[in-house]
Amino acid sequence: MAQTVDAPLWCVTRGAATDPAQRAVWGLGRVVALEHPDRWGGLIDLADGDRDLPLLPAVLSGTEDQVAIRGGVAHARRLTRTTADRQGWRPSGTVLVTGGTGALGTHVAKWLAAQGASRIVLVSRRGPDAVTLDVPGVEVVAGDITDRATVTRLVAEYTPNAVIHAAGILDDGTVDALTPERVAAVMAAKVDGARHLDAATRHLPLDAFILFSSFAGSVGSAGQANYAAANAALDAIAEQRRAEGLPAVSIAWGSWAGDGMAGDLGDRHRRGGVRPMHPATAVTALGRVTGNANRRCSTSSGTAPPPSSATPAPAPSAPTRRSATSGSTR
Ligand SMILES: NC(=O)c1ccc[n+]([C@@H]2O[C@H](COP(=O)([O-])OP(=O)(O)OC[C@H]3O[C@@H](n4cnc5c(N)ncnc54)[C@H](OP(=O)(O)O)[C@@H]3O)[C@@H](O)[C@H]2O)c1
Repeated sequence: MAQTVDAPLWCVTRGAATDPAQRAVWGLGRVVALEHPDRWGGLIDLADGDRDLPLLPAVLSGTEDQVAIRGGVAHARRLTRTTADRQGWRPSGTVLVTGGTGALGTHVAKWLAAQGASRIVLVSRRGPDAVTLDVPGVEVVAGDITDRATVTRLVAEYTPNAVIHAAGILDDGTVDALTPERVAAVMAAKVDGARHLDAATRHLPLDAFILFSSFAGSVGSAGQANYAAANAALDAIAEQRRAEGLPAVSIAWGSWAGDGMAGDLGDRHRRGGVRPMHPATAVTALGRVTGNANRRCSTSSGTAPPPSSATPAPAPSAPTRRSATSGSTR
């Protein structure tokens, strides 16, 4: 006989800062929080089970719903401002752009060309069938970046100086309507694509490895749990690379004005206080954020993944401390 459980749901992860699968739970959890606030408890990330577990009862009975426990101290998630490098990143040589035929990809391609990239390779499944761009240095090629061999081949053929991973798909639905297949499909383009690009380029001296993540992953967006999970996982891949000394930045974009994935959500975002960003502003931010690659950055309303770079601050009530998780990715 089915029983109704009305206890709040808490999700506990381990090492979510740099583990894409654990981090995906944070992206998904933030959407559950929006869709089912009555049932939502929160998210807790542990680093060291034995030391951290004794703090759980206090966190579970506290007021914070996104907490990382590190070294026996609980840190609450906070959004803080970050500064961006005014110089920014100056692209040069060859830049490989996945999802480059999409709405954002075409703005990015024009910006890359204007900034000095000599060869801009735009990849998507439809390739040249999707777009014709009369921009110097632009080549459009067909390829499915969920396929590892395809990504390996593209990297070998073009030897990029920088990678921008902007490929993605949507399959929106409330959490109760999602299926494993719907989650897997959305995760594949973003997360498998990023993993394949990471693996295929490790031997190259890249000057930028840029992942197009989303506000949905770091703040939440009702009806987009699969997309939020995928974007949160992207943020962890960037963290993972940086922890290994490799370049990476994951940019949690708010909506760009004009066409693109956020088109249908524009009004909802606007009501939520997130105004669409002009593409010219966005690409300028792209350069600055990437130039500032050792810091976490975000645009539009700003976002922040969980608690890797937590900077504890005094908290009003023990044991949870407020932590600056910065304005998003580094
Ligand atoms: N638009 C926004 O305001 C906004 C806001 C936040 C984040 N973002 C992120 O920015 C990125 C670009 O967004 P957009 O608005 O430009 O989206 P879009 O117009 O829908 O473009 C998506 C691109 O990804 C390609 N793609 C999808 N699956 C692929 C695969 N398996 N292999 C290769 N290419 C694939 C698509 O081409 P094919 O279908 O031909 O493969 C298309 O070129 C996305 O990652 C999105 O999550 C966008």
